Amino acid sequence: MSDQIRINEVGLRDGLQNQPVALGCDDKLRLIAALVDAGLRAMEATSFVSPKLVPQMADADTLYPRLPHAGLVAYSALVPNLRGLERARIAGVKEIAVVLAATDTMNRRNIGMGLSQALAASGETIRAALGLGMRAKAYIAVAFACPFESTVAPAGVLGLAEAMNKAGATEIVIADTIGAAAPRAVSGLFQECVARFGAGRLSAHFHDTRGFALANAWAALEQGIRKFDASLGGLGGCPFAPGAAGNAATEDLVLMFEQCGLATGIDLQKLRRAIVLAGQLVRRPIGGRTTAWLDAQDRRLGCGKDGAPSAMDGEKE
Ligand code: COA
Ligand code: ZN
Repeated sequence: MSDQIRINEVGLRDGLQNQPVALGCDDKLRLIAALVDAGLRAMEATSFVSPKLVPQMADADTLYPRLPHAGLVAYSALVPNLRGLERARIAGVKEIAVVLAATDTMNRRNIGMGLSQALAASGETIRAALGLGMRAKAYIAVAFACPFESTVAPAGVLGLAEAMNKAGATEIVIADTIGAAAPRAVSGLFQECVARFGAGRLSAHFHDTRGFALANAWAALEQGIRKFDASLGGLGGCPFAPGAAGNAATEDLVLMFEQCGLATGIDLQKLRRAIVLAGQLVRRPIGGRTTAWLDAQDRRLGCGKDGAPSAMDGEKE
């Protein structure tokens, strides 16, 4: 079993799409630079979706060509359809992600089409992206629970993942969009997915609505998963999925994995600086449990000035 973890930072997309304040391009680039400096080497930078529905991502076309260290960082962008793919191609995107929800209603709310149409559109977008020489990930959203439909059957999720695999998806991301999964369900679904697709082609995306994100990440890890989405400061949520709180906080996953001897390549102190900056930009305190714990530790040791600034200190500025 490899002891290397790859964290894909999704704060710029999943985090910012849900903020009342739409950040400008220059501010997003400052945040991205801070994350790259902290060691993040995979990042979902934006989405090419309707600017009317998600105004926070309306700058995707101008942001993408300006992303720093493009050779060093594996950037990706969420693309729901061929129209989005054309925008992504022009912007220079090398890796896209389609989002297919496991239920009919969630697809309708999110991308304006039912499950069968969304399945066809996702497959079509993946194939077209591969034809353009891009990599194409497929998210299976609401893979454990849906805010609109009572049950999400693992067999249905596996069927959708299989269809995305057949379409040529380079990676399949199992997403607990509303943070309603529990570790045993996570183990069960990932065990099946690993048996079918192999752990290397899979990735896990958890939200921390009920404080289960770390336990769920650990359950996925035990099934062989080494790729995880996370969002700095736990920013996040889906505007089209009521009840969804923020993502698993990047710093929480980093601290847990590193303390268990798994390497993330991320410098926690530098990551704290990025979190302070994010809190200032979105104009509210953010931070996973790790941030609060490290801030308290700094205060106890009286080394706040030498260490990273605390998130709350940043907020007061
Ligand atoms: N980027 C920009 N504009 C797009 C677009 C895209 N990828 N896809 C469609 N459009 C535009 C069309 O040109 C059209 O514009 P107009 O109103 O000015 O004529 C309009 O959107 C309607 O197009 P239509 O094909 O009917 O799509 P829709 O209205 O059903 O919207 C989505 C489809 C996918 C673009 C839309 O539902 C969406 O952006 N959803 C957001 C998904 C999201 O970001 N979720 C959170 C993350 S999971
Ligand atoms: Zn999410």
